[in-house]
Amino acid sequence: MAVERTLSIIKPDATRRNLTGKIIAKLEDAGLKVIAQKRIRLTREKAEAFYEVHAERPFYSDLCDFMTSGPVVVQALEGENAVAKNREVMGATNPEDAAVGTIRKEFAENVEANSVHGSDSPENAAIEIAFFFDDDEIVG
Ligand code: CMP
Repeated sequence: MAVERTLSIIKPDATRRNLTGKIIAKLEDAGLKVIAQKRIRLTREKAEAFYEVHAERPFYSDLCDFMTSGPVVVQALEGENAVAKNREVMGATNPEDAAVGTIRKEFAENVEANSVHGSDSPENAAIEIAFFFDDDEIVG
C-alpha cells in the first residue's frame, strides 16, 4: 500500500460542539498523521470555490451557508492508503447510513452538518490540500 495524503475538514457543527480533539483522536487511532492543520473561518467566496463541483446541486447554497457559519479546522493527513482510510473512519455522508464507530455516526447532526469532509481520491486530495496549504505549511 502506498503512503498517501488527504485533505480533512472538521466542520462548523463539530467545532461549535468542541469536538475537534475527539475527531482528531479517531483519525490518529486509525493511523493517520496530521501533517498540517489550521483553524480558519471560510469566506463565502472560498466555500463556494471549494464546493464548486456541487454548484448545480440543490443543497449548494445551504452547504456554503453552513460551511461559513463558524470555524473549521482544515488538515492534511498522511498515512498508508490515507484517502480510503479517512473515508472509512468518517463513515457515510449521511449519518443515518454511517457504520457504528465512525465519526459521522457518533458526531454528525445530519447529512449537511456531517462533522467532517475528506477527499474522495488521491488526485482530488492533492488539489484540495493545495487549496488550503502552502508547501512550507506541511511537515510530514
Ligand atoms: P462533504 O464530504 O463535505 O462533500 C459535500 C457535502 O455536501 C457533504 O459532505 C455534505 O455536507 C453535503 N451534502 C451532501 N449531500 C447532501 C444533501 N443531500 N443535502 C444536504 N447536504 C448534502
